[in-house]
Amino acid sequence: ISPQQIRNFCIIAHIDHGKSTLADRLLQLTNTVSNRDMKDQFLDSMDLERERGITIKLQTARMNYRAPDGNEYILNLIDTPGHVDFSYEVSRSLVACEGAILVVDASQGVEAQTLANVYLASESGLEIIPVLNKVDLPSAEPLRVKQEIEQMIGLDTSNCLEISAKTGKNVEKVLEYIVKYIPPPKDRSSFPLRALIFDSYYDAFRGVVVYFRVFDGILETGKKIRLMNSQKDFESVQVGVLAPHQVPVERLISGEVGYLVAGIKTVQDARVGDTITLAHQPADCALPGYKEAKPMVFCGLYPSDADQFEDLREALEKLKLNDSSLSYEPESSSAMGFGFRCGFLGLLHMEIVCERLSREYGLDLVTTSPSVGYYVYLHDNSSMLIQNPCELPEPHLVDYLEEPYVRLEIITPTEYVGPLMELTQSRRGIFQDMKYITATRTSLVYELPLAELVTNFFDLVKSRSRGYASMEYQWSGYRRGDLVKLEVAVNGEKVDALCSIVHRDKAYSIARALTERLKELIPRQQFRIPVQGMIGNRVIASEHIPALRKDVLAKCYGGDISRKKKLLKKQAEGKKRMKAIGKVDVPQEAFRAMLSLK
Ligand code: GTP
Repeated sequence: ISPQQIRNFCIIAHIDHGKSTLADRLLQLTNTVSNRDMKDQFLDSMDLERERGITIKLQTARMNYRAPDGNEYILNLIDTPGHVDFSYEVSRSLVACEGAILVVDASQGVEAQTLANVYLASESGLEIIPVLNKVDLPSAEPLRVKQEIEQMIGLDTSNCLEISAKTGKNVEKVLEYIVKYIPPPKDRSSFPLRALIFDSYYDAFRGVVVYFRVFDGILETGKKIRLMNSQKDFESVQVGVLAPHQVPVERLISGEVGYLVAGIKTVQDARVGDTITLAHQPADCALPGYKEAKPMVFCGLYPSDADQFEDLREALEKLKLNDSSLSYEPESSSAMGFGFRCGFLGLLHMEIVCERLSREYGLDLVTTSPSVGYYVYLHDNSSMLIQNPCELPEPHLVDYLEEPYVRLEIITPTEYVGPLMELTQSRRGIFQDMKYITATRTSLVYELPLAELVTNFFDLVKSRSRGYASMEYQWSGYRRGDLVKLEVAVNGEKVDALCSIVHRDKAYSIARALTERLKELIPRQQFRIPVQGMIGNRVIASEHIPALRKDVLAKCYGGDISRKKKLLKKQAEGKKRMKAIGKVDVPQEAFRAMLSLK
């Protein structure tokens, strides 16, 4: 084959606009997957993804397509994760393509993730083909949405396809457009080998399986290869294409996409973004843009049953085999016992990991409120990065702190601009820009501390806009902040797992809200319990939980015995998830109280 016959493309879209459904239709139309084998949403292979309807890990498929002009083409669909937590993976998989299909739901319009993905795609120099999906819906407004695409993205929509991935309407035209508008890869087979890794996963039998795109040269089976950034050599045991099941081939030329098995033991050795070259004939320099994905959001994970600590360690080790961006370190807490401080790329990543731990590994976990990493600059001119608020040194040692910020973009119906600006400002947002996109929709851009974003911000954006606003964020760097350590003492004992770092101006109001919330969450005991918010040794807010144990049967006069049993059982289950602080039983929700403050 020649590169002229190859098209490498991806599909980008806001969540739920129909990316996976369109991918399925394309696979069916090209007979890549037979209708019988077609599980709905073939590409989202993990169960969790199917259930939540989101794409987490990249999946790729090669399709053979005979165009109306009679020529045969190879279309490589490179699936990209939709969420910004994985934006580094998104940008690597975009680089592997020459073009992108931009799917926009014709009943919704351009949303925040649409824009974020378009920015990434145009930075990578991709040809972008806009497509309106869901035109079968009575609520579809193709004219309005086309206008939004023109005004917000600046793409010409005069030839824009109007499709329904659900009914199949006009989907075959998408294939024609791919061949017609997306350029073929350059023919660079005579150069020394350079192939970009855009995904990898761990297989218990074969070691790491790497997905790559060849840019220069030819990748063959049975050659000694080198990973240029990790500086390690391996033997290419098997090279093949994803059709979409793995089919071995002898060689892949420049422009092609495939998989490689090379006896690689961990995904850390074959990271996304690394360049494969030949050990004996290496290229001069690696493909650009390699970086290690760094965790930005942290939380403590503790087994509610101390005996499960080793199980938790094993489960994290296994997850890490497949997810090089997950980090964890053992940590001990006087309140929670032994557990791990884990680092994640973002909130969604954190949720996915926690859910997999409980679902796939059957672990019953207590998690703390998420926090971010802070740079601490000390008076003795040294500095440190802390991942747990408890690690913040004594105030007299600290010169100043820096915290991570994000660039946040919210797209909303104009009527909610007021409440959303109020919310963002109360979360220390720094206004950057406001644009009226169309008569009824507005884009707001803020710089916002990541710490404010991880505590429940997204839910509040949704509730203040009745679910209509969408948001997306990108890391924008560290900034100095006037921050203090807020600690909580229950029954006179400081609880390390409830410690947080907050802005000095907000410390009093947060301390008050937090102690009030804890008063609601911690059940009454035989004695009176003081709950105090403290900065250093200074008490800045204080509540009391009155004595007397909560009697779950109190409201159950007479009644039938099975109902009583049920209540008692429920209480017993609740207890399992409790942690004792001194003599006080604290339920697991209390450790996440920060997330439910008004
Ligand atoms: P992520 O994987 O989370 O990014 O979502 P997605 O963009 O892949 O969306 P998905 O394909 O899962 O579709 C979301 C929902 O829209 C599903 O319930 C689909 O059945 C539905 N849907 C997709 N295309 C169409 C369409 O053309 N018409 C209608 N009526 N519904 C559609």
